[in-house]
Amino acid sequence: MKIVIAADYRELSQMAAEIVAEQVRTNKNSVLGLATGSTPECMYAILSQMHRQDNLDFSGVITFNLDEYVGLAPDHPQSYHYYMKNHFFNQVNVKSCNINIPCAEKNNPEKVCLEYDQNINNSGGIDLQVLGIGTNGHIGFNEPDRFLSVDTHIVDLTEETIEANCRFFESKNEVPRRAVTMGVGSIMKAKKIMLLASGFHKAKAVKEMLSGKVTTELPASLLQLHHDPLVILDHEAASLLQAKE
Ligand code: F6R
Repeated sequence: MKIVIAADYRELSQMAAEIVAEQVRTNKNSVLGLATGSTPECMYAILSQMHRQDNLDFSGVITFNLDEYVGLAPDHPQSYHYYMKNHFFNQVNVKSCNINIPCAEKNNPEKVCLEYDQNINNSGGIDLQVLGIGTNGHIGFNEPDRFLSVDTHIVDLTEETIEANCRFFESKNEVPRRAVTMGVGSIMKAKKIMLLASGFHKAKAVKEMLSGKVTTELPASLLQLHHDPLVILDHEAASLLQAKE
């Protein structure tokens, strides 16, 4: 796994944005896998600036988001649909017909999941997948468990994730209990993967992710089996990497 350690969150975001920009410049019809959460916020801001100032062109780009809550309408301020519009899609020229975010609200959820993976395949597969990592090592909403699902599926969120995400809601009771997420197989099929982690609270998960061992109890550890993964950390997230047991 290639690991790059940035001085701070800003530098991490700049590096990540440059990699996405390079992908889009090299292939204007790139298929991007996108994440939400606090970590990529600054990366999206820099990409939006690159679009405005340097004409970085997203008009041919197709996007697939990793996940979405079940139980929040797309216009709910905490939905990932809303996040993506606010932080990225409204700031750049991605065509709305090229934006894909799983939505299990209207139709049969199994059908939604199946069609999501089919749409990824039909688009030629994801060229670059952007990931964050949960404090419990989740990727997308693939939570630690004895078994992980390969394909896009509906998942019950763990207490730890509900706790971590309640900072975005008025109260813990408002955090949805279920989500739809790309599976670990859908993620691992991406041609390139770029995982971003920032802050001391991610250091333990990062250390375990890079331990040389793979376990479904730390879903991000599976990325060690990918052929082209890049991990960009800030100093805080990397702080346990040199520590002796
Ligand atoms: C979001 C996602 C999650 C986050 C993870 C880290 O689409 O898939 O796996 O990447 O929970 O979230 P932050 O960046 O808020 O710490």
